[in-house]
Amino acid sequence: MPTFSLPASAPYKALQQHLSDAKQWQMRDLFKQDSDRFDKFSLEAAGLFIDFSKNIINENTLSLLCDLARDAQVESQREAMFAGDKINLTEKRAVLHTALRRPASDTVMVDGHNVVPDVHAVLDRMGAFAERVRNGTWRGYDDREITDIVNIGIGGSYLGPKMTCQALRPFVHSRLKLHFISNVDGHDLAALLPQINPATTLFIVASKTFTTSETMTNAQSARAWLLRSTTEAHLAKHFVAVSTQTDLVTRFGIAEENMFPFWDWVGGRYSVWSAIGLSLAIAIGIDNFKAFLAGAHAMDQHFRTAPLEKNLPALMGLVGIWNRNFLGSDSVSIAPYHQDLALFPGYLQQLEMESNGKRVHVDGNAVDFATCPVIWGDTGTNGQHAYFQLLHQGSDVIPVDFIAVLKPSHQLPLHQERLLANCFAQSEAFMRGKSADEVRKEMQAQGVSDNDIELLIPHRTFPGNRPSTTILLDELTPAALGALIALYEHKVFVQGVVWGLNSFDQWGVELGKVLAKTIEGELTGATVSAQHDGSTNGLIARARTAAGK
Ligand code: F6P
Repeated sequence: MPTFSLPASAPYKALQQHLSDAKQWQMRDLFKQDSDRFDKFSLEAAGLFIDFSKNIINENTLSLLCDLARDAQVESQREAMFAGDKINLTEKRAVLHTALRRPASDTVMVDGHNVVPDVHAVLDRMGAFAERVRNGTWRGYDDREITDIVNIGIGGSYLGPKMTCQALRPFVHSRLKLHFISNVDGHDLAALLPQINPATTLFIVASKTFTTSETMTNAQSARAWLLRSTTEAHLAKHFVAVSTQTDLVTRFGIAEENMFPFWDWVGGRYSVWSAIGLSLAIAIGIDNFKAFLAGAHAMDQHFRTAPLEKNLPALMGLVGIWNRNFLGSDSVSIAPYHQDLALFPGYLQQLEMESNGKRVHVDGNAVDFATCPVIWGDTGTNGQHAYFQLLHQGSDVIPVDFIAVLKPSHQLPLHQERLLANCFAQSEAFMRGKSADEVRKEMQAQGVSDNDIELLIPHRTFPGNRPSTTILLDELTPAALGALIALYEHKVFVQGVVWGLNSFDQWGVELGKVLAKTIEGELTGATVSAQHDGSTNGLIARARTAAGK
């Protein structure tokens, strides 16, 4: 992947110049001056509608940002990704989560081998297995149906399955309860075990590497718990695995026929489309799972073929770069106005921050500009009553992604209208703000004294001009969710290319893992080496004392 130097590029310099104009704009004026602004800056594709009009942009901004993307070779890099080139250079791997959602008739070559038939062979096995669990022909050791599925995995082997199972709650089989154990903290598993029956529980051990300490610890404990009720001979009815590592899975005691494989060209945070999505496939059924893949594929097709100016993921990425590198925002808040998307901000934290939380270019040179912002958020309207105060009046400008669903899956009257009214009102308030004059007039009409009015004006004034993007889904269906996730995956890709990063490795998680191994030895062993810094030595000593060592 050629390294692109953002600040040295001509479009970047043009954007810097353009910025001095843009800093003078007030979005409320831009809306007044142009009654077509909403139509000009909103787009629809793959079932998603996105309104970019409440960003500090005009047509020239978008055109320069698209020049920037072209200069960074976003289009050729995009093609390289779809074609299976080894664009993950530090790990010498292709990046092919998009192959997981391709139709069976497609061809994607990796090292001279078409991977699409492999993908569909696993999908068929997942479908057959999911159907057996759902229709009750896959039975536990005392011949009862499975009632509880426990996915044991962490990071991408947890966030995707859990987020999607929750998002698609209305589609979940009524007999099945889904549980997700991730944390090595024993409180996680210990709290679950009394609630489930070993005879009717299926554990899915989900780990790309099958070495992740948290997952292996939880899997061993779950196995030991099961063996308190039955014999090794019955383990196969209650444990299946999802991994790229057949040897390690069989060494754990799970036979190959109970393992669902995937491949090293699927990154952990991009793996929900692979067998890592087995819990979802069981929960919603394979046809719905295929609709989820098809929704993502529709977004892939759009991303691959639409010109940058009309390309939803490209524009999401580029508007994000405008907010980050030119307008100087340090974080992005994600506000899903749908309770079932409550875990989506957390899912995006891994997707975006593990992908683009980097400070060196692909060639190893340090970047000299800001890269991935902090991603955070919670559902609307809950966030409104917690941190939205800071978003409206805090000293930092934090762009917000509003995600709303037009048709609810419940029948309760008035809730949906109130929910959407809040969503649209928040983006309006961020954009418009409230001037001192407006506050004054409002308080005068309420009969507040002049003295009190002048005291309160600074507190009751909203600066406005705060950017937001609104994404609308018709309904929260498997296909719409697939398209939404793929939208963000490709947004991350576009930003990674423009920033010149490898978005597909994650070396930053390694140091802590290695140090934890050493410290674990000191917490469990008879003696400590005391070779850490004073703070770490002190903390280890206190933990040993608390454990009676
Ligand atoms: O530690 C980070 C990470 O490697 C993530 O990228 C990954 O999703 C997670 O750990 C889990 O990895 P595995 O699926 O190999 O257990």
